[in-house]
Amino acid sequence: MTDVVRTGAELGAAVAAARGRVALVPTMGALHEGHASLMGAARAVVGDGGVVVASVFVNPLQFGAGEDLDRYPRTWDADLALAEREGVDVVFAPTVAEVYPGGDPQVTVDPGPLGAELEGAVRPGHFAGVLTVVAKLFGLARPDVAVFGEKDYQQLVLIRRMAADLCLRVEVRGAPTVREPDGLALSSRNRYLDDEQRRVAAVLSRALHAGQDAARTGPEAARAAAGAELADVPGAEVDYLELRDPDLAPLAPDATGPARLLVAARVGTTRLIDNTALSLGVGTG
Ligand code: PAF
Repeated sequence: MTDVVRTGAELGAAVAAARGRVALVPTMGALHEGHASLMGAARAVVGDGGVVVASVFVNPLQFGAGEDLDRYPRTWDADLALAEREGVDVVFAPTVAEVYPGGDPQVTVDPGPLGAELEGAVRPGHFAGVLTVVAKLFGLARPDVAVFGEKDYQQLVLIRRMAADLCLRVEVRGAPTVREPDGLALSSRNRYLDDEQRRVAAVLSRALHAGQDAARTGPEAARAAAGAELADVPGAEVDYLELRDPDLAPLAPDATGPARLLVAARVGTTRLIDNTALSLGVGTG
């Protein structure tokens, strides 16, 4: 049975009563099978004796002016049903006033230089908003482990770095992206797409595959193969296509070994992101 708590005090009491380890899955609701896999990963880490907490909170602090805060899908009944199906013990669903009682916080988490690159270059302030709410959720739930999707890879890297740099004593785990049969990464924002846009959107994962296939030849070939795939499909307006190292630092032109290929594009008014791991170098692609 899933308990729903609305306040930090109730959440604190629920986790204080827990005997086993606590795993947190932060979400903004509009839950889909990608979130279900995070909840499954959380359960696998803490086991049946542990406590899985999922938060459902559309965090205004991480949306810029003109972004989709107002139209972001809110699907509470379905969210709760999914959390129950996944055996989540506690759902924390606070109001904005509960999380930010004094309005916008005076003190926020600075994501550092990486916070201004890639997504941060297109969405100024986004990662300060993400890290601030995640730090608050860590403070309220005191989890041993927190699970985030690799689909938001830059977010995952920054949360890991925050936990390490600020000694937050939480193990941050990433879970693989869940995809539609044609490769489209599951995202709460996919529901904004009409049928034609949905067809166009599949080019993102095709581009990542093309990059993976060419990775054996080196970074430039990987980038070029992915870029050629994207250029082939009108209707996807590319914000960036970048190849970085697994921590998102820049790569040398002759780099070999593990890397991350990241793409962001607009399809209609919907902004989609995706990424994949790849291995650069002869014989490893
Ligand atoms: O990935 C998300 O859904 C959000 O950015 C998060 C981590 C729940 C913070 O609001």
